[in-house]
Amino acid sequence: MISLHPTQPSHADDISALLDRAFGPGFRARTAERLREASRPISALSYIAHDDQDALIGSISYWPVRLGRAAGLLLGPLAVDATVQSKGVGLQLMQATLDLVDPARFSFVILVGDLDYYDRVGFGVAPASVRLPGPVDPARLLIRAEKAVFEQLSGTLRPAPELC
Ligand SMILES: CC(C)(COP(=O)(O)OP(=O)(O)OC[C@H]1O[C@@H](n2cnc3c(N)ncnc32)[C@H](O)[C@@H]1OP(=O)(O)O)[C@@H](O)C(=O)NCCC(=O)NCCS
Repeated sequence: MISLHPTQPSHADDISALLDRAFGPGFRARTAERLREASRPISALSYIAHDDQDALIGSISYWPVRLGRAAGLLLGPLAVDATVQSKGVGLQLMQATLDLVDPARFSFVILVGDLDYYDRVGFGVAPASVRLPGPVDPARLLIRAEKAVFEQLSGTLRPAPELC
């Protein structure tokens, strides 16, 4: 049985260990990390998953960003412990937190990941006019937004700590 909970400061060490296991040591050098280090996550959207032994087995967070004047969220990292992968934990974490996003405050959610996974929760490949401030495979740059917003998005993604 999986339960989801808002992330607390006391979870920091367990989350850090989970991310190291899930992504390996190169993780913190990625382009998306450069956007996170200038900011902090939206606390109301940071969640962890516990198993029935109370072990931390999943984590998700969102970071405030802008594309031009549009305010949005950078999703990630999302990680699920290898021992419980493919049991729906990642999709549960995403769906529960995406449902909390107020589109009037954050009009899009962006991430770097595999379309085959994230299209299950409404992500599509970003318009070509959307860029990250560093190298990224355009086929893995994904956005979730209302159609009218999606089509208007352009520019280089930048951190927006003032939106926290
Ligand atoms: C990717 C990750 C978060 C998925 O979490 P999860 O709890 O295992 O996934 P879920 O149980 O919610 O979904 C499982 C389904 O997604 C598919 N899936 C998982 N990762 C996928 C990927 N990268 N690309 C395509 N499909 C993927 C599985 O094959 C499975 O498909 P099925 O339902 O047809 O059997 C998890 O595997 C993980 O932490 N991986 C390492 C870190 C990582 O890569 N994070 C994402 C960065 S983009």
